[in-house]
Amino acid sequence: MALFGKIIISKARLKNIGGIVILEKKAWGQEGADRKKIAARIQAFPEGNIIATYKKEVVGYVSFEYVDEIKKNNSFSWSNITDNGMATKSHKKNGDFIYGINLSILPSKRFLNIGSLLMLEGLKNMIINNKKGAYIGSRIPDYNEYKKKNPKIRVDQYIKLKRKDGKFYDRGLRLYQSQGLQPIKALANYFPDLDSRNYGVLVFKKNIFYNWPFRTLIANFIVNLEKIYLKFH
Ligand SMILES: CC(C)(COP(=O)(O)OP(=O)(O)OC[C@H]1O[C@@H](n2cnc3c(N)ncnc32)[C@H](O)[C@@H]1OP(=O)(O)O)[C@@H](O)C(=O)NCCC(=O)NCCS
Repeated sequence: MALFGKIIISKARLKNIGGIVILEKKAWGQEGADRKKIAARIQAFPEGNIIATYKKEVVGYVSFEYVDEIKKNNSFSWSNITDNGMATKSHKKNGDFIYGINLSILPSKRFLNIGSLLMLEGLKNMIINNKKGAYIGSRIPDYNEYKKKNPKIRVDQYIKLKRKDGKFYDRGLRLYQSQGLQPIKALANYFPDLDSRNYGVLVFKKNIFYNWPFRTLIANFIVNLEKIYLKFH
């Protein structure tokens, strides 16, 4: 909690790319976004790249783009929907939905709600810019272990599994559930990830304030309220 108050959230600028690349390597290993990808994303959609810094070090990074409705699309991969992580061709300026490209937190700064804080920035953008909803392709990092112990389970069954407290069994889905995103469907061969058996899960949150007046006011109010909640949890 002490750290939470000292985290600075800001739009990523070109001068931050070095720090973001270091973070990406630590969070994702060789799958982390490189300089070229991050620069392309910032160029395609500057507001869609947000960082969290602590004592001048980049400790978190979220990026997103706008897309047209994708619910009815057949299966797609992370690479298809994000233009291989560049967003150059996939970002649709007038798209009605937000799509999450990436969320990374420094391993030494996890479980401090920084990931949730960055997600809130995406949801704030959704309300202010009057988008119809937000999509993300979630990992399911607990699937591989579960499947080894329960070989008969299918992925569509697995993504519905909940604990006794009503939260999803998988920690990836739990993170998005905490911000109101619900699973829609599993996407095979979404991203190379052994723990998720290469599956991604499309999760979605509807913007209940779509077409409401005073959207900036509403977005700031909700995000500030949520930040107070996160600070004490
Ligand atoms: C997932 C990730 C962004 C979470 O960041 P964070 O700042 O620790 O998140 P918060 O503190 O806001 O929330 C913690 C929640 O994240 C989820 N989580 C924890 N580790 C996770 C992991 N390795 N992968 C996915 N979700 C994870 C859990 O739901 C956890 O809550 P819990 O107490 O119910 O288990 C961070 O672990 C990370 O960068 N992982 C590697 C990259 C990644 O998987 N990104 C998400 C792509 S879909």
